[in-house]
Amino acid sequence: MTDEPGIRRGHALRAAVEQGLVGEEEPVLGLLDITGITHAATALHAAFATPGVAITHTFAVKAASLVPVLALLGECGLGAEVASPGELALARAAGIPADRTVLDSPAKTVAELREALTLGIAVNADNPSELARIDEIRLEAPTAPAAAPVGLRVNPQVGAGSIGAMSTATATSKFGVALRDPGAEEWVLRAYAERPWLSRLHTHTGSQGVPLGLMVAGVRAAYELAERINAAAGRQQITVLDIGGGLPVNFGSDEVTPAFADYADLLRAEIPGLFDGRYGLVTEFGRSLLAKNGTVLARVEYAKSAGGRPIAVTHAGAQVATRTVFVPDAWPIRVLALDAKGRQKDGEPVVQHVAGPCCFAGDLVARGRALPLLGAGDHVALLDTGAYYFSNHFAYNSLPRPAVYGYTARPDGTVAFAPVRAAQTQAELIAESGGGLPPLRRG
Ligand SMILES: Cc1ncc(COP(=O)(O)O)c(C=O)c1O
Repeated sequence: MTDEPGIRRGHALRAAVEQGLVGEEEPVLGLLDITGITHAATALHAAFATPGVAITHTFAVKAASLVPVLALLGECGLGAEVASPGELALARAAGIPADRTVLDSPAKTVAELREALTLGIAVNADNPSELARIDEIRLEAPTAPAAAPVGLRVNPQVGAGSIGAMSTATATSKFGVALRDPGAEEWVLRAYAERPWLSRLHTHTGSQGVPLGLMVAGVRAAYELAERINAAAGRQQITVLDIGGGLPVNFGSDEVTPAFADYADLLRAEIPGLFDGRYGLVTEFGRSLLAKNGTVLARVEYAKSAGGRPIAVTHAGAQVATRTVFVPDAWPIRVLALDAKGRQKDGEPVVQHVAGPCCFAGDLVARGRALPLLGAGDHVALLDTGAYYFSNHFAYNSLPRPAVYGYTARPDGTVAFAPVRAAQTQAELIAESGGGLPPLRRG
């Protein structure tokens, strides 16, 4: 295995073309660097490891809802943060144990809560009504669910990062108990006093665009609240602090910055009590574990020109790069121009559009980008797409979800691929579009 992610990726792109994984039948696919994912997990463990502190690192399944990836991360000692019954089912299918699973769905039904509590999965209640539902379920079966740790999610209201839609700690965010609202902290203190079994506190300040300082401020608010709750209880009632995920990713180069160690070191410096052994910790990183380990590879079907602007029409657009296409300023990605053999093209950069296959004008993954001129039969690689691309498929135009492969690249350039997800077939597309159902009849 080579140690350079860019070299591994280059080998994989070439090999995927050479081995015909991308071609006429499947003109777009996803690639995941198995070595890179393993390295990221190792870096996460190393960054937070502290003698005497029990730490559970969970992976936010929404970032890459792919069972073999969850299983790989499970093998690396990670658990799963799940936000829907479907994500819980995937985590279970991957063999993630209940005691390494955390349920954070924003709109948990009674059935979902009951299932999680019965399985012994940690649940973070989002609001007073949800906590009341948990009370009821515990009354139904006071002993069985008692093993499932329960926490409360709080919104420290420390402010937004650069992407509004990703900022979960604004004054009016939909998540958690808004801690600075009048009467909120008093309610929280009462809620813990009335429920001696409530043993966790959860916060997640946001995903991408949130600077480390703001993330630390959110964790500090939760830590200080836990200290007040424990003081009021006269014992260590809160034993675990779940500090969420949210480490931002650098989409501008191959450099991993900030690193997990940057964040962990800042937390240690700013909130030493977090690591003094009184609290267990849970983390829920998603993007920072996977983003830089994924690439979308697509064929250029046509090259054309409009108004003097060259346009490469490829098979990667909004169906795989949904956020990038719809909110391009918040989610710009690097695009590599590759030749027909999957090797990086050289040549004078020419300002061009890189378009996708969707039937609307804005379906562009790069607008006016200076790249070696792309021609029909060439390829493009969309970099840093390992998180929130293979799980955010957009079903417009009935374009199928592309196949995803994991890869291991050796220094001599040989590459082994392992299937992660098969491309969606036309039969599956028809079935999911009601194909097996009787036609609607005029009334
Ligand atoms: C509760 C919670 N935890 C963790 C995450 C993962 O965030 P990230 O992928 O930025 O690490 C999210 C993302 O939306 C989240 O809502």
